Amino acid sequence: MTTNAQHTTDDPATGTALTVLVTGATGRTGSRVAQAARAAGHTVRAASRSGEVRFDWNERSTWDHALHGADAASLAYLPDVGAPGAADAVGALARRAAELGVRHLVLLSARGEDQAHATERALADSGVARWTVVRASWFMQNFSEGPLVEGLRAGELVFPAGEVLEPFVDVRDIADVVVAVLAAGERYAGRIIEVSGARPLSFRDAVAELAAASGRPLAYVPVGAREYGASLTEFGVPESEVEFLIELFETNLDGRNAHVSDGVREVLGREPREFSDFVREAVEAGAWKD
Ligand SMILES: NC(=O)c1ccc[n+]([C@@H]2O[C@H](COP(=O)([O-])OP(=O)(O)OC[C@H]3O[C@@H](n4cnc5c(N)ncnc54)[C@H](OP(=O)(O)O)[C@@H]3O)[C@@H](O)[C@H]2O)c1
Repeated sequence: MTTNAQHTTDDPATGTALTVLVTGATGRTGSRVAQAARAAGHTVRAASRSGEVRFDWNERSTWDHALHGADAASLAYLPDVGAPGAADAVGALARRAAELGVRHLVLLSARGEDQAHATERALADSGVARWTVVRASWFMQNFSEGPLVEGLRAGELVFPAGEVLEPFVDVRDIADVVVAVLAAGERYAGRIIEVSGARPLSFRDAVAELAAASGRPLAYVPVGAREYGASLTEFGVPESEVEFLIELFETNLDGRNAHVSDGVREVLGREPREFSDFVREAVEAGAWKD
C-alpha cells in the first residue's frame, strides 16, 4: 500500500504501511504522531503508562509486548530526553528493539540541550538498523496543554525565560516530520534533524499574542531558574527532577536557541506552522478560558 508518494527511493520500506510503536502517545507530541501515522495508513501502537498499549520507561517488563512485531518506533523519553537515566533507558530499549526486529527508531530530542547528547548517542550506538533524531525547539503547545496552562488561565505565565528569543514549533509539525522520516526508509537514517517554527519570539511577545487573541489581560512574569525550581518543589515535583530542570533552564534558555532551523522545510517541503495560527486555533478550542 502506498502511503507517501512524495518519498520515492529504492528502499523497500518506502511507501509501505508500517506498524509503528508510538511512546508518549497520550502526550502533546505523541498524540499527534499517532494521529499523523494513522492518517498516513500505518498501524499505530499508542503506548504509555495509561495508554492503549501499556509501556513504562521505568518497567522493562512492559517493553517486549510493546515492541514485538513493530517495524518502527517513535520514542519520547519522560520526564525529559536529557534527564538522568535517559541515556541508559533509551539505549537499552533501542538494543532490545533491534533484537526484536524493529528496524527504524526516531527519537524526539531537544535543540541546544547538551544533556540530551548522551541519550542521542545511546540510540546511535544501539545497533538498530536505522535511527533518526528529531531535535525540536520549545513547543507552541506548552502554552495550551500541560503544566503552564493553569497559570495562564489565572492570568499569568511565570517562567524563567527572561527576554530570550525562541522559534516555538507546533507539535503537529514535529509529528509530520517523524512520520515522513519513517516513511522515507533510508533517507534520514543516521541523521539529526533540527526543527523549529518560522519566527523567533520572546516569551513576553508570545504571551502578548495569546492575550490579544483571547481578549484577556495575560502577563508574562520572568523569574530566576532557582525561584521557579522552588515553586516546582512546592507542586510536588521530586527534588532530583527539580535540580535537573533548573540546570536545563539555566542552559537552554540562555539564548543559544534563538535561531530558526530548517528541518520542517527539508523533510516536508513546506513552511512550519505559524504561531498566530496556533494561537487562533487554541483560542477557538477555549485553551485559556478560566
Ligand atoms: N516541551 C518542549 O518544549 C520540548 C522540546 C523539545 C523536546 N522535548 C522532549 O519531548 C518529550 C516530552 O514530550 P511531550 O511534551 O509530547 O510529552 P507530554 O505531553 O509531557 O506527555 C508525556 C507522555 O509520556 C507518557 N509518560 C510519562 N511518563 C512515562 C513513563 N515513565 N513511561 C512511559 N510513558 C510515560 C505520558 O503518558 P502516561 O502518563 O499515560 O504514561 C504521556 O503520553 C521529552 O522527552 C522532552 O525532553 C520537549
